[in-house]
Amino acid sequence: MKTITPPNTTLTASDVILGLMRISQLDDAAIRDLVGAARDAGINYFDHADVYGGDHACERRFGDAITFTPAEREAVIIQSKVGIRDGFWDFSKEHILRSVDESLAALRLDHLDVLLLHRPDTLVEPEEVATAFDSLHASGKVRNFGVSNQTPGQMDLLRRFVTQPLAFNQVQLSITHAPLLAAGIAANMAGLDQSIDRDNGILDYARLHDITLQAWSPFQKGFFDGVFIGDRENYSPLNDALDEIAAAHGVTPTGIAVAWITRHPANMQVVLGTTKPERVRESAAGSDVLLSREEWYRLFTAAGHTLP
Ligand SMILES: NC(=O)c1ccc[n+]([C@@H]2O[C@H](COP(=O)([O-])OP(=O)(O)OC[C@H]3O[C@@H](n4cnc5c(N)ncnc54)[C@H](OP(=O)(O)O)[C@@H]3O)[C@@H](O)[C@H]2O)c1
Repeated sequence: MKTITPPNTTLTASDVILGLMRISQLDDAAIRDLVGAARDAGINYFDHADVYGGDHACERRFGDAITFTPAEREAVIIQSKVGIRDGFWDFSKEHILRSVDESLAALRLDHLDVLLLHRPDTLVEPEEVATAFDSLHASGKVRNFGVSNQTPGQMDLLRRFVTQPLAFNQVQLSITHAPLLAAGIAANMAGLDQSIDRDNGILDYARLHDITLQAWSPFQKGFFDGVFIGDRENYSPLNDALDEIAAAHGVTPTGIAVAWITRHPANMQVVLGTTKPERVRESAAGSDVLLSREEWYRLFTAAGHTLP
C-alpha cells in the first residue's frame, strides 16, 4: 500500500481510503470484517460524514462496532464531513460545532483527524467558518481541515478567513466520470463538450496550492448510477482494456480502476465505497500498481474520452 504525506498536515496516509457511506445496514461483525480487511491491506484512512445513513447513522454503526486501542487510534486517520442537512446545506458556525460534537459522540471518539465541509453552501459566511474551525482546533476536537466538491474560487474565499490550512478537496472522479482531468486534456476545443471547464480548474489549483484531492465514487459510471466494471453493454472497450491491463499486472479490473487514479502525479487518494472485504483487498492491490503512460491513456480513451 502506497502512503502519502498530505502537504500542510503531519499525517502519513494510505492512498486508498475506506469510505463508510454504505454501512448503515451492516451488522457489527460485517463492519469489523470490512475495517479489518482494510487495516490488513494497509489502509489507515476512514471517511465518514454526518449525513451518511441519515443523522449520523453510519458513524454510529462504526462507533458501535469498532473500539480502537489507544495505539490503534493513533495509527488510523478518521475523517468526517459536515454541511449537508435535510433539504439544505449549512456552513453556519452553530451547525458545524453541533454536528462535530454529534459525530464524535456517534463515533465514540474524542477527536477527528480531518473535518471536511461537504458541499458548497452558497449562503456561507466565511468568518463564521473561521470561528468554528478556530474553536474546533483549539479544543482539540479537529486536527486538520479541508473541503469537498469546492471550486478554486470557493476555496480562496474560505482561505481569506480560515487560518488553518485547507489540506484536502474530496471530489468525484473515476475513469468514466473524469471532467476534472478530461477538460484540461481537451483545453480550448470549440464544439467539444469535454472541453467545457465545469469546475474552474480544481486539478491545477490543487497541485499549485498543495491540496490533496480525494476521489469519491471511483468505480461509478456517473453520479450513483452503477459501476462501469463488468458493464459490457455500455463500456465494452473499457472493460476489454481493464481486463488486459489487470492480467498484465496480476490484479483485478477493480485494482486497475484504483491504479488509474493513484497513477496521477497529483498524489490523489481513492475513496472506496464497497461493503465487501474482498473488493477492499482488490482495490488495495491497485495501489501498488504503477500504470505506464500508454496504459493510463488507453483506459482514458477506452472510456470514451477524446484525445484531440
Ligand atoms: N464528498 C462527497 O460528496 C461524496 C459523495 C459520495 C461518496 N463519497 C465518499 O466516497 C465513498 C465511495 O463512494 P461510492 O460508494 O459511490 O463509490 P464506489 O466505490 O465507486 O462504489 C461502491 C458501490 O459500488 C458497488 N459495486 C458493485 N460492483 C463493484 C465492483 N466491481 N467494484 C467496486 N464496487 C462495486 C459496491 O457494492 P458492494 O458494497 O457490494 O461492493 C458499492 O455499492 C463513500 O463511501 C463516501 O465515503 C463522498
